[in-house]
Formats: sequence, structure tokens, C-alpha cells
Amino acid sequence: MPIIAPSLLSADFLNLQAACTMLNNSEADWFHLDVMDGRFVPNISFGFPVIEQVRKATTKTCDVHLMIVEPEKYTEAFKKAGADILTVHIEACVHLHRNIQQIKGLGMKAGVAVNPHTPVESLKDILQDIDVVCMMSVNPGFGGQSFIFHTLEKIKTLRGMIDAKGLPVIIEVDGGVTLENAHSIIDAGAHALVAGNTVFKSPDPAATISKLKHIV
Ligand code: DX5
Ligand code: ZN
Repeated sequence: MPIIAPSLLSADFLNLQAACTMLNNSEADWFHLDVMDGRFVPNISFGFPVIEQVRKATTKTCDVHLMIVEPEKYTEAFKKAGADILTVHIEACVHLHRNIQQIKGLGMKAGVAVNPHTPVESLKDILQDIDVVCMMSVNPGFGGQSFIFHTLEKIKTLRGMIDAKGLPVIIEVDGGVTLENAHSIIDAGAHALVAGNTVFKSPDPAATISKLKHIV
């Protein structure tokens, strides 16, 4: 069964407590927290105070997706805020290997996110050092966008690379995941599904999470 990581970006921010309670009582595995800085992406979301509060509201894995430049400046602060998995963008890191060592040195799992245009082959020499690849299936910055179909090819290629080396790397697919396309995403080789709008804009978010969890 896939790992399900609902994205809080699509939750009602006036009722975050309710969103956390719903997720805690659901089959969700991870809380996906999208941090945007208005520089790496053309949007600004939330930061430490929100993550700290969410951390207090759950014992589930906090999966923090940094869409920010110079993420190395804040690694320790995200650890303190409560991140379990910290994901940085390959496009935002000049010294990616150093950043990964920093994240793991602080006791977090390390993720690398790749934009839709970034070839999966660029992960070849970092795969052995990381825990998660966050494969962007939309251009990062906003929830509610449409899934970019070519991502399926990228997932297949990446899964081949990971399996060929026998690595325990999790492929997480982020952006435009729906009840309609989730099956083909898993079929292509993904292990984890992020879902924002599909979960939080549905009439019964917990039921939708369950449907995603049991999609195959
Ligand atoms: C996009 C974020 C996603 C977003 C997904 O930049 O990284 O995590 O919240 O939202 P949906 O599932 O609505 O595309
Ligand atoms: Zn995300």
C-alpha cells in the first residue's frame, strides 16, 4: 500500500487543529508541509510557527518540503520546529551533498525534490545518500494544479535506477494527484502520494485518504 501524505497547504488555516485531528484519525501516513519563500517559487506559504504547532498536534511523520533558496541556512531551525523528513530542491542547492549530510547529521531523513524539467538522471550520484525523492508532477508553488503526464515516464526511470542499486529510497509524487490518476502513478513505481486538493476539497477527506491508501 502506498504511503499517503496529505498536503496541509490545502487545509483550512482557520481550523488547522481540526485538519490535524482528521489526519490523525485517518489512514494518512505523513503530514506534508509545503514551505515557500517567494523566491524559489512565486508564492509564500508558511514557516516555523505553523510547523511547530502542527508538530504538537500529531505523532505522525512530518514531511517538510522546502521550496526555498539557501535551505542550508535553516536546516537546524526546521529540525527544531519538528521536521522528521526534510526535503530540499536539487535546483536550489549548489552543494547538495553537503546539505544532505547536514540534514542527516541532525537526525532527520533527507529528501531531494526535482522539478518537472529536471532529468531524473541528475539524481544518479546522490541516490545512495538520501531517503526520499520528491518527484514534482506540477511546477511547485501552488496547490490544485493539473498532473503533468510525462512524470509517469520519470517515475519509471527513477524506480529502475533505485531498484538496480537495491536502494531503500522512497519515490514520493507531489502535485495534481487525484483518485483518477493515483493508480497509474503507483503502477509507474511511486511509493508515496502527496495530495492537497484531492483530500481537503473532498466532501469526506478521511474517506478520500482511505481510497488513496487502497487504490491498488
Ligand atoms: C506544490 C506543493 C504540493 C501541493 C500539492 O508546490 O509542493 O505539495 O500542496 O497540492 P495538490 O495535491 O493540490 O496538487
Ligand atoms: Zn509539496
